[in-house]
Amino acid sequence: MELNTAPAAPAAFDQDVFRQVVGHFASGVAVITTALNGQLYGTTASAVSSLSMDPPMMLMCLNQASSTHDAVGQAGVYAINILAEDQRDVALKFGRKGADKFDGVPHRLSIHGGVPVLDGALATITCVVEEAPRGGTHSVFFGRVVEAEAAPGQPLAYYRGTFGRLERVKELDAYAKVRQWILGRRTGAGEDLDISELVSGLRAEPDDVFNALVKLSAEGLVTRTVCGAFTPAPITVAFSDNLYDGRATIEIGVIAGKIGDLDPELVNELTGLAEAMGRKRADASASLQDFLELHSRFHQGLVAASGSAQLEDSYRRLSIAGVWGEAWNDIDWRSRLDHSHLVRLAAALKDKDTDAAIASVHSYTVQAKQFAKIAIESRGGIV
Ligand SMILES: Cc1cc2nc3c(=O)[nH]c(=O)nc-3n(C[C@H](O)[C@H](O)[C@H](O)COP(=O)(O)O)c2cc1C
Repeated sequence: MELNTAPAAPAAFDQDVFRQVVGHFASGVAVITTALNGQLYGTTASAVSSLSMDPPMMLMCLNQASSTHDAVGQAGVYAINILAEDQRDVALKFGRKGADKFDGVPHRLSIHGGVPVLDGALATITCVVEEAPRGGTHSVFFGRVVEAEAAPGQPLAYYRGTFGRLERVKELDAYAKVRQWILGRRTGAGEDLDISELVSGLRAEPDDVFNALVKLSAEGLVTRTVCGAFTPAPITVAFSDNLYDGRATIEIGVIAGKIGDLDPELVNELTGLAEAMGRKRADASASLQDFLELHSRFHQGLVAASGSAQLEDSYRRLSIAGVWGEAWNDIDWRSRLDHSHLVRLAAALKDKDTDAAIASVHSYTVQAKQFAKIAIESRGGIV
């Protein structure tokens, strides 16, 4: 196939925009290592990919300013150490310049070429350089694979300048279901959770259920008994106040940091959601769940403006709406839930009025706390 190349030199594209946009490509993280004249070299790299199956080949791209770049070129052999999720420190250490990179990093030398292979890496692929064409500031190393091995575990991920871990869809799904089980009090507060009952009731893998319970313990929704069993933690007014304050802190941070460059479409969407909440309150056939659905879309939309998936996740995890169940249905929510705070918040976002927006967050947080308090007290002070 002929490559289609532009006839004239294209106009220079803005580098900052390019960096910001290209960061949307999620990748793993590797450390490229080599050895030359008895000295070890290594650099963190995310520009790594498999290239060919027949013969097995890899490619990776290194900046020509990197000392590892020159060492790989001269040694003609290198290892791609694919990092595991607990190797963030290793990624940081090899992501800067320094002569001490291998200090305190356990490793052995590969059979082929004697290049460093890092202990604890998820996989290691040793390659011999076949070609190294240049592209802009970087060289692309085409390497023929001569050694490869993998270990069990999960990869370290890299996305938009931040390290993270991959969460499997099945694992996330199990977490959401176990959380709902706990908040819906399918096992009462203080009773032992039967993991096999959860596994069969939720049609989830035992490992995923266990991991979900460990996560929920960190969130304070589940505690461990002296016998090691998990039990739903009782929710008190103090606990719920704490969560609402945490949510308010996140929203205030997003408002303070992003109000200047919020997408007008998002602001319109939030305005529309706040108005729709008013219609639900006026509609006798609408349920509290319908109202809360709009409410949570509003808040999640605002937090998503932070551009941080981690923050969105933390925000979602501070929600305990599911726990109120029947308690709320007995309460006249139409008269008690005042959506006008959110109407004011949407207007303040539109006007880029930080003080007014933060004041609205404070006022609906007070309201949410009061509403939760009524629900908790209607059940004797502990849910
Ligand atoms: C997550 C991450 C990914 C990186 N990816 C690359 C890459 O693909 N290619 C590259 O040349 N540098 C990459 N770097 C930057 C180098 O690791 C960094 O410039 C290092 O200081 C080079 O060290 P050296 O000069 O000792 O080789 C990355 C850094 C980090 C933290």
